[in-house]
Amino acid sequence: MFINSLDLKNFRNYDNLHIEFDSHINILYGDNAQGKTNILEALFMSATTKSHRGGKDKEMIRFSEDDCHIKTIVSKDDILRKIDMHLKRRSKKGIAIDGINIRRSSELFGLLNIIFFSPEDLSIIKQGPDKRRRFLDIELCQLDKIYLTYLAKYNKILFQRNNLLKQINYDRSKLDMLDVWDEQLVTYGSYIIDKRADFILNLNEIIREKHDKLTGSLEKISIDYEKSTESSSFAERLKAAREDDLRRYITTVGPHRDDMIFMTNDIDIRKFGSQGQVRSAALSLKLSEIEIVRSRIKESPVLLLDDVLSELDSNRQNYLLNNIDDVQVIITCTGLDEFVNKRLPIDRVYKVVEGTVTLKEE
Ligand SMILES: Nc1ncnc2c1ncn2[C@@H]1O[C@H](COP(=O)(O)OP(=O)(O)OP(=O)(O)O)[C@@H](O)[C@H]1O
Ligand SMILES: [Mg+2]
Repeated sequence: MFINSLDLKNFRNYDNLHIEFDSHINILYGDNAQGKTNILEALFMSATTKSHRGGKDKEMIRFSEDDCHIKTIVSKDDILRKIDMHLKRRSKKGIAIDGINIRRSSELFGLLNIIFFSPEDLSIIKQGPDKRRRFLDIELCQLDKIYLTYLAKYNKILFQRNNLLKQINYDRSKLDMLDVWDEQLVTYGSYIIDKRADFILNLNEIIREKHDKLTGSLEKISIDYEKSTESSSFAERLKAAREDDLRRYITTVGPHRDDMIFMTNDIDIRKFGSQGQVRSAALSLKLSEIEIVRSRIKESPVLLLDDVLSELDSNRQNYLLNNIDDVQVIITCTGLDEFVNKRLPIDRVYKVVEGTVTLKEE
C-alpha cells in the first residue's frame, strides 16, 4: 500500500495544501518549525484517528479557525481509497471512507497501515514502561480490530474500577460492584495479554536476524514479555490483590502494568546497555515491526521517518536505508546535504517553508 496524496485545510500551520507522494522514497526538508512533522501527523491521523503526539483534536485546528480537513488518498491493491477527516473545535470529529461516513473510528483501522519512527523511538528501551506498552498497542490496534475494541473497554473499566476503589473506602456497601468490574477486566484483559504474547513471540523470531545483520552477529538480542499476570490466573491474582488495591485506590494487577525487556547477550540493556546498544536495539525493533505488519497483512506498511536519520551514525543509517527498499517512506529532515552523498535513491523531494510545500525539480 502507499499514500497517493494528502490535502489539508486549516490543519496546524497549513491553510491549504495538496501534496502528492511517490510510491517509494519521499523527502520533506526545511528549517525548524516550518510544518514538516505536521504533514506526518496528518498522515498518522488518517491511519489511526489520533495524533502521534498524543494531543487533542482541537489543537490540530489552525489557530483562529473552527474546523479543519484532512483528506488522504491511499492506493491499496491498485484500488484508490479515500479517507476524509473533519476535525471540529466544538464537537466530535467526522470520518468518511470513500465518501461514506463511518460511525466508529475502529472501522478505519487497517485501511492504512503506518509505522512512525521518530527520535523518541530511539530511546524507547530506556523510557518508562508506558512507552513500550504504547508501542505494542499502536501496532496491535492497527492489526486487530478486536484488540482495539477490547483495549478501549479495558481502559474504561480500569478507570471505573479505580474510582470505585475510592468510593468503597467510605461506602463499604459498594464492595459487591467490584466483582462485576473484575469479571469484565479479566475478559478484556486476558485477550490483550494473549495477543501481546503472540506479538512478542513473533517479534523475537524476526528481530534476532535483523540484529545479527546490524551488529555483525556480535550481539544476540531477545525481548522478554514481562507480564503483570498470566491471562489464565488474572482473575485469581486480581482477587488476591483486592485488599491492597482498596488501600491504594489503584488496580495493581493487569496488562496496564506490562512491560517488555530488551536483552542483548543476556544483559538487560535498559539498565546496563550503552547508548549505542540501546539505539541499535530500537532500530532493529522498528525494522522488525515493518516485517511483522508485512507478514500479517500481506502488504507493506508506509514508513514515516521524522528527523530520525540525522540521529543515526552512518552504519545505522545504511542499515535502515537498506531495509526499506520495498516500502513507501516519507522522510523529514532539516538539510538535504546529509543524503546527497549517501546513495539514497530519492524519488521526490519537497521543500517545506512556513506551511507551504514546493516540489524540488531535479
Ligand atoms: N494549531 C495550530 N495552528 C497554527 N499553527 C500551528 C498549530 N500547531 C502548530 N503550529 C505551528 O506549526 C509549526 C510546527 O510545525 P512542525 O512541528 O511540523 O515543524 P517541523 O518543520 O517539523 O520543525 P522541526 O524541524 O523543528 O521538527 C510551528 O510554527 C507551530 O507554531
Ligand atoms: Mg519536526
